[in-house]
Amino acid sequence: MDTKLFFDQVEPATILGKACYAVVGNPIGHSQSPWIHQRYAEQTAQAMYYGRMQPSIDQFHIYAQAFFQQGGQGLSVTVPFKLEACTFAKQLTPRAQLAGAVNTLWQDGGQIYGDNTDGLGLVRDLVAQGIALKGTKILILGAGGAARGIIGPLLAEGPVAIMAANRSLGKAKQLAILFGELAQSVGATLRAESIEDLETQASSGTLSQFDLVINATAASLDILSPLSNHLAAQLFQPRTFAYDLVYGKPTPFMQQALQHGSRVSDGLGMLVEQAAAAFLIWRGAALSSAINPRQVLAELRHALA
Ligand code: ATR
Repeated sequence: MDTKLFFDQVEPATILGKACYAVVGNPIGHSQSPWIHQRYAEQTAQAMYYGRMQPSIDQFHIYAQAFFQQGGQGLSVTVPFKLEACTFAKQLTPRAQLAGAVNTLWQDGGQIYGDNTDGLGLVRDLVAQGIALKGTKILILGAGGAARGIIGPLLAEGPVAIMAANRSLGKAKQLAILFGELAQSVGATLRAESIEDLETQASSGTLSQFDLVINATAASLDILSPLSNHLAAQLFQPRTFAYDLVYGKPTPFMQQALQHGSRVSDGLGMLVEQAAAAFLIWRGAALSSAINPRQVLAELRHALA
């Protein structure tokens, strides 16, 4: 077994005396995480090295184990390894348990811990953009891992209603069951629909109105929208906020929302905010007043423009 995987790719002088972290995914070349974490390390004067690891699809456990055995302190986990990271961690935070996925791993006292900061990252980004979630009606499109990661933290903000709408109704129903108790405990209604049902409601004029519509489907990756133009026309109003979890160019979903005068956002702020939460788990919550995620976001947007 080749366990040289990470540290032998890095010049020893680069990591000498530094705490080592990395993002692990496949593919990973495009990841902005090393840049983001390096900026947080600069803002807080932490001696920290943050690299990249790209195991083949069946080698996550081998790479992660070797990384921690060789003294690595923490890993960010991205597609397609978030479910495997969940089984790799020996201790999960309650929100990682509910999400069924882990995006942040660390080692403490010989034990591997796992958390999921994606939903918190989304909530922080929404709040920073002036979106108050208390008392709102939220539509989440999609019922895969991305949707499952955000529902818990959104419910914790006290919306009156969340509707999970998916292409296949069965998966949306599973989500509604999984988060039913949490929804009840915060006094929110949580319903499942198929996107086709929403299309029918749009045609019959019975579609509910939502304050926030979140695209958590993988459709944007194929440059598609999960919504027909007809449904989008009923859903998006000037008072609606449309958020796509992916980042980069405006997605077809965002373009539909813009056409109807809605405010839109991509998921770059969520990426920067979930990284901030991971950074504070690793380096200590006392640094929270020293990091400035919104400045890092502005710099990153400028760099990507
Ligand atoms: P992720 O971890 O990114 O959520 P996933 O678990 O594979 O990935 O889930 C992908 C989600 O995007 C699913 O909700 C999928 O719908 P189905 O469950 O019906 O397959 C949704 N999805 C993918 N492409 C889509 C498209 N073109 N239109 C609508 N939904 C789409």
